[in-house]
Amino acid sequence: MLDKGALDQKQLEQIAVAARLLRRGGIVAFPTETVYGLGADATNTDAVQKVYTIKQRPADHPLIVHIGHMAQLDIWALEIPEAARLLARHFWPGPLTLILKRSAHIPDCVTGGQDTVGLRIPAHPVALELLNMIGPDKAIAAPSANRYGRISPTAAVHVRNTLSNKIDMILDGGTCNIGLESTIVSFENDAVFLLRPGGISVSAIESVLSKPVISYKNRKTAVRVPGAIPSHYAPATPLQLFHLPELVQTAIKLAAQNLRVAVITWSDAGMSQFNVPYIQHVKMSSDPVRYGQQLYAVLHQQDQAAIDYILMETPPELPAWLAISDRLQRASQAYL
Ligand code: TXA
Ligand code: MG
Repeated sequence: MLDKGALDQKQLEQIAVAARLLRRGGIVAFPTETVYGLGADATNTDAVQKVYTIKQRPADHPLIVHIGHMAQLDIWALEIPEAARLLARHFWPGPLTLILKRSAHIPDCVTGGQDTVGLRIPAHPVALELLNMIGPDKAIAAPSANRYGRISPTAAVHVRNTLSNKIDMILDGGTCNIGLESTIVSFENDAVFLLRPGGISVSAIESVLSKPVISYKNRKTAVRVPGAIPSHYAPATPLQLFHLPELVQTAIKLAAQNLRVAVITWSDAGMSQFNVPYIQHVKMSSDPVRYGQQLYAVLHQQDQAAIDYILMETPPELPAWLAISDRLQRASQAYL
């Protein structure tokens, strides 16, 4: 599982420093295949509290616990349903978080006081080596390494720009190759629920389970899942979604008022119409996997670029775009 060959000596030394910091209660930002995490020793209550403070995150929003080996599943969770084991075997290490009944090893502050815990094995050599080095009796509690409600970091520089003076170390592992957060599923009786679409598609999960996954939208839940709060994952710059004809009209209207507009599209139509002063056009990939990889980096760039408005083309209503649509809808909610 651990591809140490991908890491050079300098990286291994950096990871060893990070592991020591974590064991002493420090806070380390580290790369995963989805987004960068803001890590703390999951068994250290003070360290976990620091993560909430740095993120400015309400105490009742639980953190995901990252583990290094399948064998650790039974240390941190109890009464694990067979469907969860099946999914773990298929998709770990990978962008899938399983919500399971927590064991007594998990402090209250990690789970926001709930009786469940979110667990995943990340598929990034740096993250896996970090988990390996902190030891088999430890795990890393880590939300995305951004301020509460903001877009997640997909490169070390995104963390450096916003949190560097508040944390002990940033482990640089390059650009995250999924670029969107993990898919989160929970289990109840025989049913499997989707709490957040993400790096693993619903159809891939359904084909492993041979049964449908029930959408989080159809479920009443008292659990506070930030991804399920309408306004979230938002850049600091106002962002709105439009279909193409309206996107063109709105961009031209705003530019005529000397407002700087970033127009972000995926389709090939309408290109020349954005060739206007005050409009900066970013053409994204029309492939959802590539689009997902680029999305947060593009939004971070616009936040740095003193743009007044970000206008985005509504993504296609297709299953492969589900996680992207979910994030963009939440990002635009903040500015309606
Ligand atoms: O890809 C990811 O999942 C990244 C990387 C760092 O692993 N992490 C991430 O963490 O996105 P965060 O905290 O930004 O989002 C985790 C989501 C939150 O919406 C949280 O409420 C939910 O997972 N969550 C965690 N534990 C939960 C639980 N026990 N029950 C329900 N939701 C839970
Ligand atoms: Mg987050």
